Amino acid sequence: MKGIILAGGSGSRLYPITKIYSKQLTVIYDKPLIYYPLSILMLGGIREILIISNSETIPFYQQLFGSGSQLGLEIEYAVQQAPNGIAEAFIIGEKFINGESVVLILGDNIFYGSLEFFYRGIRNNVGATIFGYKVNDPERYGIVEFDKEGKAISIEEKPKKPKSNYAVPGIYIYNNEIIEISKNLKPSARGELEITDVNKEYLIKGKLKVEKIGRGIAWLDTGTPEALLQASNFFGVIEERQGLKVACIEEIAYYMNYISKNEFEILISSIPRSLYKDYLEKLLRE
Ligand code: DAU
Repeated sequence: MKGIILAGGSGSRLYPITKIYSKQLTVIYDKPLIYYPLSILMLGGIREILIISNSETIPFYQQLFGSGSQLGLEIEYAVQQAPNGIAEAFIIGEKFINGESVVLILGDNIFYGSLEFFYRGIRNNVGATIFGYKVNDPERYGIVEFDKEGKAISIEEKPKKPKSNYAVPGIYIYNNEIIEISKNLKPSARGELEITDVNKEYLIKGKLKVEKIGRGIAWLDTGTPEALLQASNFFGVIEERQGLKVACIEEIAYYMNYISKNEFEILISSIPRSLYKDYLEKLLRE
């Protein structure tokens, strides 16, 4: 299973935060936003990861993560010339995906809580597995409608009259049919290759599974300055209370045995004096 983080886009709604680089480098409490989706892929056992972004931001990601080997990962990078739609990620990533299945996570999507829904999705995926999460403002998302048996029967992108309150979060699992499907997509009215059209195609083929995610999971929004502040406060409260960090990729690499104790020590020694380093050193001693 390969992983793609789509972390570009125009970010215009967050100007001037996004004047110089894309939104996924903005800070959520004590680390860049992209650490959160990256940590989800890592916890899902995915170690070969492609980061796609615009040409201005890719060099920053390269500085942040390099080849990924210090985390026991293989990270590659690719440029999306313009925000032509989420589904373009699979066309850009075709070579990287190389005939395998793939998880796509949007670089601005944050999940917190038990990830069992995700692990199960990875284990059991046949065609496509996506998720449904109850929200208050369904007009802003891809929305899935279920029948009485809980089977998905329709999906619409940002419907004016939503048929349900179940939004599709930005984490998608696909078999390799995704490549053909993406290549055959036509741009939507807003000129994008829509991920919702991909999911519709799997639905028509009878190969789409939509799993509801329970309320025990936090799926946080990062679309506005208020949402960024709320997400920062949310993780600030949790980290302060537990004395544990969320989405600490070095900790996860060690915990998942992607790196040995010795490699963890070397990694820590490369980090400048900081509270972040103190935290990792404490883990090493425990
Ligand atoms: O967050 C979940 C939602 O994401 C889904 O419910 C929707 O079905 C899906 O279309 C998407 O909706 P958004 O309108 O929120 O997508 P947005 O255009 O904001 O893009 C999501 C992220 O992906 C954003 O951080 C920018 C990045 N992106 C987006 C596009 C269209 C790219 O890197 N390249 C792109 O071409």
